[in-house]
Amino acid sequence: MVSKFNKKHVVSIKDFSKEEIDFVLDLAGDMTEIAKGNKSDDSLKGNILGTLFFEPSTRTRLSFESAMKRLEGACIGFARAGTSSVKKGETLADTVQVISSYVDIIVLRHPQEGAARLAAKFSEKPIINAGDGAGQHPTQTLLDLFTIREEKDEIENKKIGIAGDLKYGRTVHSLTHALSMYDCDLTFIAPASLQIPDEIIKDIEKMDIKYRKAENITDVLDDLDVLYMTRIQRERFPSDEEYEEVAETYKIKKDMLENVKDDMIIMHPLPRVDEIYSDVDSTTHAKYFKQAANGVPIRMALLKLLTEGYNE
Ligand code: CP
Repeated sequence: MVSKFNKKHVVSIKDFSKEEIDFVLDLAGDMTEIAKGNKSDDSLKGNILGTLFFEPSTRTRLSFESAMKRLEGACIGFARAGTSSVKKGETLADTVQVISSYVDIIVLRHPQEGAARLAAKFSEKPIINAGDGAGQHPTQTLLDLFTIREEKDEIENKKIGIAGDLKYGRTVHSLTHALSMYDCDLTFIAPASLQIPDEIIKDIEKMDIKYRKAENITDVLDDLDVLYMTRIQRERFPSDEEYEEVAETYKIKKDMLENVKDDMIIMHPLPRVDEIYSDVDSTTHAKYFKQAANGVPIRMALLKLLTEGYNE
């Protein structure tokens, strides 16, 4: 296979063309049995992944570690900044420069927007952005796209509603940019104070895709092929009263799904709090746990592409 992927780092989904995204998704498709442990692959034997997590994570960190170990590579790193020398005042630039001499590839999560781009300047080895503040979360976007493609056969021509905190949610920002490369129809569902930022709207308008804004999920739910939920962040509201006024309109319960399309899927990057009730989990619409599992083959594909392990 001739690689259509020649990136050194994965910092933002905006750095990807549609062709490159499709190439990663195709390779991830080939990885699914290895990700489940049903087939073996030792292509990253001898490689070390460094996981630098300055913010909490369950899925991203552990799915990267699982992906690396399934390919017989090794992992070192930290899950809390407090256990590294950053606690003593070491800069991110120095930290990355040093660790890049210990490992073959680095996964970085950091609260500061732009941290991964900065790290890439100081690293000899590939940097993968695992979330930088309210900026980007490109590997989440790739697994989101993979999930839509797996569940709906294609991404094009789908009516996709994105609900919750669209202002600060990095998964939403990355996903919106990526979906604008596909010919789909987007609905941004949020209270006015948490709607999608204008600069992202300007970007997607350049791509000439259809979009609309809505305040209430129930107004648009029955028309959607995909509902992508995110957590409405109580802490973003000026008062608890203002949060309580809108909160119920951003919660999905089983009894709200009676009139949705039979094959409508519900996704969520997780963690959820109470925006999807547990009674939805047993419906055929719920795909968020499958989506989380898809993090492993996607991250295997990226690890292979960014190291010398991919020689086919
Ligand atoms: N979706 C996601 O990024 O989850 P974690 O914060 O648990 O990594």
